[in-house]
Amino acid sequence: MKTLITGATGQLGSLVLDHLLTRLSATEIAVSVRTPAKADAIAAKGVEVRHGDFDDLALMTKAFAGVETALIISAEADNATRIAQHRTAVDAAKAAGVKHVIYTSIVDPRVDADFTYSAIHLDTENYIKQSGLKYTLLRNSFYADLLMAGVPHALETGDFGAPAGDAKITYVTRNDLAEAAAIVLANPAAHENAVYELTGAKAVTHAEIAGYIADATGKPVKFADLPADVHVGILNSIGLPGHLVEALAGLYVGAKKGDYAVVSNDLEKILGRPSQSVEDFLTKALAA
Ligand SMILES: NC(=O)c1ccc[n+]([C@@H]2O[C@H](COP(=O)([O-])OP(=O)(O)OC[C@H]3O[C@@H](n4cnc5c(N)ncnc54)[C@H](OP(=O)(O)O)[C@@H]3O)[C@@H](O)[C@H]2O)c1
Repeated sequence: MKTLITGATGQLGSLVLDHLLTRLSATEIAVSVRTPAKADAIAAKGVEVRHGDFDDLALMTKAFAGVETALIISAEADNATRIAQHRTAVDAAKAAGVKHVIYTSIVDPRVDADFTYSAIHLDTENYIKQSGLKYTLLRNSFYADLLMAGVPHALETGDFGAPAGDAKITYVTRNDLAEAAAIVLANPAAHENAVYELTGAKAVTHAEIAGYIADATGKPVKFADLPADVHVGILNSIGLPGHLVEALAGLYVGAKKGDYAVVSNDLEKILGRPSQSVEDFLTKALAA
């Protein structure tokens, strides 16, 4: 029986695979990817590459064949599409005889959250729980890695902009989340029907983040609190899909209400070490 990762050609999935390869042998692992031709590097590691797509139940069921434990990495689409895709993935896992499903959710998933994608994760979590499969829900907080997107503009203008006000957010590195997922995948019995809130060890403001960037680069960067409509205008101008613009705008509305300020030690407990701080992550990323 294999342990399988979906979305293994994505950024989180490829990190999960690398961490899992330090815990299981390549022959014990399979991945499901939408474009097998993009997975030559994975196949070269001795990992079986299967074709899978959450839009195709039959294909996905085939991809899950002979799999004991599967990590379903959430996809990227509007809410209705993604809810259907995730339900298809869960149906396929069940049809194929998968025993334990691990899912990358979001911290504090709610149907009424301002961060509109939250409702997708709540639906998927409930669907998994109702499936009768064993499960582990990895409620990932927001990637610290995404903060790097604002750095070039900040270095050019001195302004690190976001409509964040004094909001505190428990940003966490993608790599720590990936290692946690790999630890759970390698020993699912220890995490049966567990729900983890995977946050950074500290909730940080965007003013603090601007300070980390200033310290790391020696440049006079400060936080610029963008009006919400200006932020939305910027996101639209770079061509992001409407559902993503709505979700990102809502993220900051929710964060200002304290939605993403609650720190949990679940990640540290799974990793068996402190998680990487936002300050350390940015300092190292900016030095690289
Ligand atoms: N916590 C956060 O801050 C945060 C931020 C952004 C996104 N996310 C969520 O976390 C997920 C993983 O993050 P990431 O950084 O690894 O994103 P990513 O690099 O965009 O990877 C997303 C993965 O999902 C796969 N996927 C998309 N649609 C699919 C479908 N219909 N069927 C099967 N697989 C599908 C993609 O497959 P291909 O490789 O074939 O394209 C890709 O491998 C994202 O998809 C999103 O749901 C979380």
